Amino acid sequence: MSDAYSDSRGNHDASIVNPRGRGTMVPGKATGERVETANAFLVGDTMSGGYGQGPDILHACTIAVDPGEIAVIVGPNGAGKSTAMKAVFGMLNLRKGSVRLDGQDITDLSPQDRVAQGMGFVPQTSNIFTSLTVEENLEMGAFIRRDDIRGTMEQIYELFPILKDKRRQPAGELSGGQRQQVAVGRALMTKPKVLMLDEPTAGVSPIVMDELFDRIIEVSRTGIPILMVEQNARQALEIADRGYVLVQGRNAHTGTGKELLADEDVRRSFLGG
Ligand SMILES: Nc1ncnc2c1ncn2[C@@H]1O[C@H](COP(=O)(O)OP(=O)(O)OP(=O)(O)O)[C@@H](O)[C@H]1O
Ligand SMILES: [Mg+2]
Repeated sequence: MSDAYSDSRGNHDASIVNPRGRGTMVPGKATGERVETANAFLVGDTMSGGYGQGPDILHACTIAVDPGEIAVIVGPNGAGKSTAMKAVFGMLNLRKGSVRLDGQDITDLSPQDRVAQGMGFVPQTSNIFTSLTVEENLEMGAFIRRDDIRGTMEQIYELFPILKDKRRQPAGELSGGQRQQVAVGRALMTKPKVLMLDEPTAGVSPIVMDELFDRIIEVSRTGIPILMVEQNARQALEIADRGYVLVQGRNAHTGTGKELLADEDVRRSFLGG
């Protein structure tokens, strides 16, 4: 990955070592369950909650992204990564904890009101309208806007030129990587202040994954902080200013992407050695 991301962008917080420790998940020096969120632009803070009347899936889980940064959430299947994202977006009733955006407590806002406040969210599944054309998908993304959306649409076509070529095609006819571009483009149509992506590279080839990551970096360089879940943990941590490893709805390891990539426990348990 490019040099611009190697040293200058790392976050400078000192994560606090968890005094309790947790079996095989004993935090290393750069890890811990409590996470420093003082500078966060968007934070889901010590969130606990589950679905409906069901048991808690999240247990004092904290995820956050600072201004100008890319934060990446990794962890095993079923760890609660998507649940944490949904909680931050207001799709889960929190039993404890709060969500703050740009210093404002938005815990009680509906997802739609969060969009109006500047949150863009691309969920893991069903993130495009397959029967609508590419352009109609982008128009749908702008549903909350009353101003002229053409400039934003042009920017999205510049970011993802293939979408311009295919703008009259039903989105359902596109490849997996192209659909993800539609989904990200749709979220960008609201002109978000922060972008949340749940597995934007799911099911795509390594080459397409690299291209998508490059586009995501490009978006972040326009000043939009990015909070994303990724299954390609190693590659994602390489571009992450901050990384979170979630296990069973809890923060297991937190640090800069670099720190997590270098952490023995994280390597052994989550990165295949
Ligand atoms: N809509 C739902 N209703 C009830 N339980 C759910 C729902 N969605 C997820 N769960 C449960 O919540 C837990 C965490 O699931 P979640 O989808 O958040 O994990 P994940 O880390 O995103 O996994 P993956 O890597 O497979 O995407 C799982 O036990 C799952 O069965
Ligand atoms: Mg998920």
